[in-house]
Amino acid sequence: MSSSYARKAAELRAEIEHHEYLYYVQDAPEISDAQYDALMNQLKALEAAHPELVVPESPTQRVGGKPKEGFAKVPHSRPMLSLDNAYNEQELRAWAERVSAALPPSEKVEFTCEYKLDGLSLALHYGASENGGASLVRGLTRGDGAVGEDVTSNVRTIRSVPLSISQEKLTSAGLPQSFEVRGEVIMPQTAFEKMNREREVAGQAPAANPRNAAAGTLRTVEPSIVARRRLDLYAYFLLRDGETFLATQQETLDALRTAGFRVNPQARTMQTIDQVLAFIADAEKERDSLGYEIDGIVVKVNSTAQQRRLGFTGKAPRWAIAYKFPARAGVTQLRGVLFQVGRTGKLTPVADLQPIFIGGTTVTRATLHNEDEIARLGLRIGDYVSVERGGDVIPKITHVVEDKQHARGTQKIVFPKQCPRCGEDVVREEGEADWRCVNASCPARLEEELRHFASRGVMNIEGLGEALVAQLLGHSAPESGDTAEETEEEIAEAPTRAALVHSVADIYSLTLEQLMTLERIGEKSALSLLAEIDKSRKAPLYRVLLALGIRHVGERTAQTLADEFGSMDAIMHATEEELQRVNDVGPKVAAAIREFFSGEKNIQLVEKLRAAGLTMTSEKRARGTTFAGMTFVLTGTLPTMTRDAAKELIENAGGKVSGSVSKKTNYVVAGDDAGSKLEKARELGVAVLDEDGLVEMLGRS
Ligand code: IVH
Repeated sequence: MSSSYARKAAELRAEIEHHEYLYYVQDAPEISDAQYDALMNQLKALEAAHPELVVPESPTQRVGGKPKEGFAKVPHSRPMLSLDNAYNEQELRAWAERVSAALPPSEKVEFTCEYKLDGLSLALHYGASENGGASLVRGLTRGDGAVGEDVTSNVRTIRSVPLSISQEKLTSAGLPQSFEVRGEVIMPQTAFEKMNREREVAGQAPAANPRNAAAGTLRTVEPSIVARRRLDLYAYFLLRDGETFLATQQETLDALRTAGFRVNPQARTMQTIDQVLAFIADAEKERDSLGYEIDGIVVKVNSTAQQRRLGFTGKAPRWAIAYKFPARAGVTQLRGVLFQVGRTGKLTPVADLQPIFIGGTTVTRATLHNEDEIARLGLRIGDYVSVERGGDVIPKITHVVEDKQHARGTQKIVFPKQCPRCGEDVVREEGEADWRCVNASCPARLEEELRHFASRGVMNIEGLGEALVAQLLGHSAPESGDTAEETEEEIAEAPTRAALVHSVADIYSLTLEQLMTLERIGEKSALSLLAEIDKSRKAPLYRVLLALGIRHVGERTAQTLADEFGSMDAIMHATEEELQRVNDVGPKVAAAIREFFSGEKNIQLVEKLRAAGLTMTSEKRARGTTFAGMTFVLTGTLPTMTRDAAKELIENAGGKVSGSVSKKTNYVVAGDDAGSKLEKARELGVAVLDEDGLVEMLGRS
């Protein structure tokens, strides 16, 4: 009987894998998301009922446990080298000539051209699986080239990385059961933007570019976070026992594709360097519309026999070169510096540039970070500056272009001593890089708070955008967007009218009459705004928590907190220690939450929101709270309860059950024949209970 379940599970796995391949590798799904989810749910249910059927390569297992002790260091089968660079046609031709000179004159050389993806390289080790196929054993970062870091648990979450490859696929690709694939992990542009929006909502600094975002994500210790961000792997290299084994690079790419890996479709094999140059010119035109970053073209000698004869120099192969695209940069004039005031009162200097067209977009702003950066650049208003737009979101000023003639007319950049928005003093604390406005009721802060509160993914109050926020605060509506870019004079000149809102909570007492006094607001839009505001009262607790704008508390953390504590009050009164018992809440987050709720003004805000009828409890409140914030691990056979029953008891009391013992585990509940988990608990000093102990703890409350 159990073998029929096993067969069903294997069928479902194969079917899901096939659809994952179509979706994530081919970008050509054949079934809807709902159909895919249904298959996945069937498999999950089957595996839940028959845990012995769970295998590590099951698609249900992409998101598994955290690595226990950070990332282990593992030596590479053969060094992961870097590439020499060529920056222009001449350097590329010189390389091709060196290649020809090193080979017998009669030999023809072909070149394979591939996009140089701007991510980080990864080595994937596959090993023989029981059914004659191969399965993913390990994923390593490049590290220092000789020794990498084992990031397998994170690599498994990348959907374009096959967890298993069938015997048929291996055969048609001509691959052995054990082999190594190397490739580049990237974060596509859309995923990058999404991640940065989420970071912004959580008050975290955005990643500067997709490469940093991909690298940071891959080194995150929580696989479920990695899984939520979309990373992609493009394969370009294949090894067996540390050696290339197919005749050409083109065959290698084809074999990888056949085996089910994502291979960049743009790769081509060329007969001459002129053809290579034409390929490069085309790629440069495509560069801005790919949806992911490339920083050049990798040109490789196609024949692996020739590659072997060419060999390596110190750190790079002689048989390949990276043709690097010129940085997308330009020179323009600094017209002035604007000072933005953020939600925390932080002043950020922003360069106001003479508009310049760089790599497909007009650039008028560049970040200057802080006062020290301005000093480092030696920047003055009127200077001509070199502006670079790498993969970075915000263009950077790399240096001042020296121009003595001009230098006479430039002006020193003066950091304001008063807040450009409210006129209060700004301070720069010892050891801090930033100036901050000290006025807790600075209109700029309130403006940012309101914008955040109403924004998409937070309280979702449609219609309460930037312009209306400004009007509600009694500022004139900004002409074309960014109010933070208004200069001091512009604000001073703006006709000030009485503010309708003095605290975020005030939006819940706005009336139709009040709204209709605002410019450009008719009855219809006022009514729909009021309906939207009303609707937001029903937003779940985690959204309210998110809306408060506590530093480091993003959507996911807010959700966990709401689930675990069940009410705003419980979170407000939790100690740092209690907060840290919750998954994803480390010391930094816990401290930020405590700090927030120790502020008088913030407590008042919560009380006003409560009075306005916002949701202050979570649906999961029905659960008890005896074990709120606590994590249990079950091991061995309990005398009277099944493991599922024990799990249910714990969860009903607000606790969590986890599969592995760590420092965050509060209790291990051990029955007969408890094995390594019990040992681990003793090692870490985690409290151990038996069934009676568990029941007693529950009974006490
Ligand atoms: S081949 C010995 N192919 O560029 C072979 N590398 O600057 C070395 N990269 O570390 C790698 N796309 O991270 C190769 N199609 C591609 C690539 C590529 C991006 C990266 C890789 C490497 C770096 C070298």
